[in-house]
Amino acid sequence: MNSSHADSHPSSGPATAPAPAIRAIGLRKTYGDGDAMVRPLDDLSLDIEAGRFTAIMGPSGSGKSTLLNMLAGLDTPDSGEVIIGGTALSGLSDRKLTALRRDRIGFVFQSFNLVPAMDAEENILLPSQLAGKKTDRRVFRRMVDLLGLSERLHHRPHELSGGQQQRVAVARALVSQPDVIVADEPTGNLDSNSGEEVLSILRSSVDELGQTVVMVTHDPRAAARADRVVLLADGRLAGELIDPDPESVATALMNVTATTGAAAAGTSRAGASHSGVSHAGGGR
Ligand SMILES: Nc1ncnc2c1ncn2[C@@H]1O[C@H](COP(=O)(O)OP(=O)(O)OP(=O)(O)O)[C@@H](O)[C@H]1O
Ligand SMILES: [Mg+2]
Repeated sequence: MNSSHADSHPSSGPATAPAPAIRAIGLRKTYGDGDAMVRPLDDLSLDIEAGRFTAIMGPSGSGKSTLLNMLAGLDTPDSGEVIIGGTALSGLSDRKLTALRRDRIGFVFQSFNLVPAMDAEENILLPSQLAGKKTDRRVFRRMVDLLGLSERLHHRPHELSGGQQQRVAVARALVSQPDVIVADEPTGNLDSNSGEEVLSILRSSVDELGQTVVMVTHDPRAAARADRVVLLADGRLAGELIDPDPESVATALMNVTATTGAAAAGTSRAGASHSGVSHAGGGR
């Protein structure tokens, strides 16, 4: 089969696995009913390619966090299926699902979610410890050096800047070398320098370690660091960009937001809409 994907990636490194790391099929999710009904996911299907950096964008309330949580097995759809590394989540007991999450997924949240009483090193090593995994000391050192945390390992979160805390959170997600890193607005609370550092480490984890990263962001420049940008509107796919640049992302996002109407919370009911697949550069 010759690859028909119109991307122009230099196939970086050996990790060009064709099987998707995560596959979402026909996800639906509804909250409330009657007038109060919200449908954050409306028959949404999406493959997250392994060894790639995927960004998810869309207006506020379009379902990004809901989708990310489902992709990571933190939330369950009303219908549809999520398959992580070949395992269908719907068939799993709570215990198995918890174990799969712990073993295969690394999380980075907007609010860093560090344990206040633990120092940076202990925070970074915590998930591996919980998973009963032995941490590869070389990976740990490399991560800590890359993230500029060597001098901060014995500080507790309140003794660290926001950027440093977020880098600890990124190191924590990366160090156990999970199959997939999911990040919900990991730079949302950071100044642009710290945000840039976090993006660089996510980027190099993909390029150098073959990591798979899925990141929700509102920032076109952040999204442009990804290999692929997926746009959501009203709980549906509304477009996609391969090898994005900040301008094309901003334009696509504007188009999606314009067709969605209000970019405020409280989205569509019953997902009325269009799905204008806006490839970049929809000139005007
Ligand atoms: N637990 C819940 N109960 C009721 N409604 C919910 C719940 N979680 C999400 N929603 C609604 O579903 C919609 C999608 O929410 P979601 O958090 O996925 O949006 P988002 O795209 O991440 O938005 P933002 O950019 O503001 O973070 C919103 O209208 C939200 O109010
Ligand atoms: Mg969100």
